[in-house]
Amino acid sequence: MREIWVLVFLFWGGEFIEGLGVNWGTMATHKLPPKVVVQMLKDNGIKKVKLFDADQSTMSALAGTDIEVMVAIPNDQLAVMGSFDRAKEWVRRNVTRYNFNGGVNIKYVAVGNEPFLTSYNNSFLNTTFPALQNIQNALNDAGVGDSIKATVPLNADVYGSPPDNPIPSAGTFRTDILGQMTQIVEFLNKNSAPFTVNIYPFLSLYANENFPVDYAFFDGVSNPIVDNGIPYTNVFDANFDTLGASLKAVGYGNMTIIVGEVGWPTDGDRNANVNFALRFYRGLLPRLAANKGTPVRPGYIEVYLFGLIDEDAKSIAPGNFERHWGIFRYDGQPKFPMDLSGQLQDQYLVGAQNVQYLPQKWCVLRPDAKDISKLAENINYACTFSDCTALGYGSSCNGLDPNGNATYAFNMYFQVQNQKDLSCNFQGLAMVTDQNVSQGNCNFTIQIATSYSSNLSPVALVFVISFIILLL
Ligand SMILES: *[C@@H]1O[C@H](CO)[C@@H](O)[C@H](O)[C@H]1NC(C)=O
Ligand SMILES: *[C@@H]1O[C@H](CO)[C@@H](O)[C@H](O)[C@H]1NC(C)=O
Ligand SMILES: *[C@@H]1O[C@H](CO)[C@@H](O)[C@H](O)[C@H]1NC(C)=O
Ligand SMILES: *[C@@H]1O[C@H](CO)[C@@H](O)[C@H](O)[C@H]1NC(C)=O
Ligand SMILES: *[C@@H]1O[C@H](CO)[C@@H](O)[C@H](O)[C@H]1NC(C)=O
Ligand SMILES: *[C@@H]1O[C@H](CO)[C@@H](O)[C@H](O)[C@H]1NC(C)=O
Ligand SMILES: *[C@@H]1O[C@H](CO)[C@@H](O)[C@H](O)[C@H]1NC(C)=O
Repeated sequence: MREIWVLVFLFWGGEFIEGLGVNWGTMATHKLPPKVVVQMLKDNGIKKVKLFDADQSTMSALAGTDIEVMVAIPNDQLAVMGSFDRAKEWVRRNVTRYNFNGGVNIKYVAVGNEPFLTSYNNSFLNTTFPALQNIQNALNDAGVGDSIKATVPLNADVYGSPPDNPIPSAGTFRTDILGQMTQIVEFLNKNSAPFTVNIYPFLSLYANENFPVDYAFFDGVSNPIVDNGIPYTNVFDANFDTLGASLKAVGYGNMTIIVGEVGWPTDGDRNANVNFALRFYRGLLPRLAANKGTPVRPGYIEVYLFGLIDEDAKSIAPGNFERHWGIFRYDGQPKFPMDLSGQLQDQYLVGAQNVQYLPQKWCVLRPDAKDISKLAENINYACTFSDCTALGYGSSCNGLDPNGNATYAFNMYFQVQNQKDLSCNFQGLAMVTDQNVSQGNCNFTIQIATSYSSNLSPVALVFVISFIILLL
């Protein structure tokens, strides 16, 4: 009897979802050390990670783990990869170099990141396919092409996703890029490489006032979109199957599809909050665990959550929510409970260990501040060089009064500047305090100490070294 209970318990304890990975982006002013992040991955059983470059310190931290890695070539490097010699060098330096016992378990090379996004005005239209070809051919030449595949993570806007395309089965690639897409898909097929797509139900909701909110989640809608008798109850399935149809339209209806990014942000918009993120992941993860797939493609899907940790230096051109996609906060602490085995046994994930913070000091608006006329320009300055996205409409700090706004902005700047004395002045309007000024849901945060690495500027370093030499 007891044995049975142990078995039941083991079953419930849950395997980590097969095929689930995370995106590890590093556009943050204060980054956790790569070794700490890799430990977080291990502590939470995460076995796949997608990167946005091939940074050496990240790769070193991943070496010797079994974690499967997608390394990446940023968009601004696509043009130079048009040279086969250059592509071979990239592969030598950033792939085969790690291909040894105890090295890095690289599975994919992402060539660009959403290069055909409409907002890029086709800037990468003519450089993406040559880069893809050269990188895969370089991998093949190096003898690793059977196990390491080049792919291009594309945004779902390469095909008209619902509601632009009324029904999934009518999916086709955008006409302005159809030629490029067809070549890319043919080449991927020839090399048995997957198609990688980023699918964002949140963005469907964000982009369209009239988008039915429930359709962004997985817990049912009253009037599903019916496509040839198939009811679609969520935009993720509809979007994925629209891609399937688009691939079919160019002759490759059975090509493997990887979801390179999917997730829900927790701040920076009225629909970006912890409750919606919880609802989204509580719908998504059990479906992945059950290999439910989509109506047209039931079964296993490889999926990478976006993202691992908040990135306070990400571009907010798409929206203020961009800096809040993490399932972990900027300091590697979990934001909400989730169950990465998809069994809905929600608990807080294991956060980053031994995080070192700056001292408990905040920068605030002086209670006796006189020249208030200078406030706006100083807030503007602070927010230009730090992250004030939580102040906007629908965000966690939107309820502050004007003084609270100023303090929030000053403090964010002060923290980004590592609490340097001169960074809390603002023409005499600001001062440092050791009193926690957080209000309600709005956190006035303390940054993490980046002296994990060296805080010394190169100039200071030269002085220190000269001094040591003098002493000798
Ligand atoms: C390898 O990747 C790194 C990080 O993305 C990049 O800076 C570097 O230029 C790449 N190496 C070569 C030889 O292209
Ligand atoms: C794309 O074009 C628009 C309008 O012409 C322009 O505002 C924008 O800066 C361009 N974006 C890029 C990345 O070139
Ligand atoms: C890409 O190539 C086409 C056809 O040669 C050309 O018309 C277009 O201007 C090119 N686009 C860019 C961004 O270079
Ligand atoms: C897809 O179909 C083609 C022929 O139609 C076949 O050669 C290929 O192996 C199939 N690929 C997969 C992943 O099933
Ligand atoms: C605080 O700042 C935000 C963002 O700039 C703005 O939307 C809001 O109206 C400000 N609130 C007050 C009370 O000034
Ligand atoms: C400041 O107070 C807030 C709200 O009470 C709390 O969540 C936060 O952890 C505190 N910050 C520090 C650094 O103690
Ligand atoms: C503020 O920080 C506390 C922990 O210090 C956390 O529990 C809470 O979720 C945070 N709130 C926001 C809006 O980030």
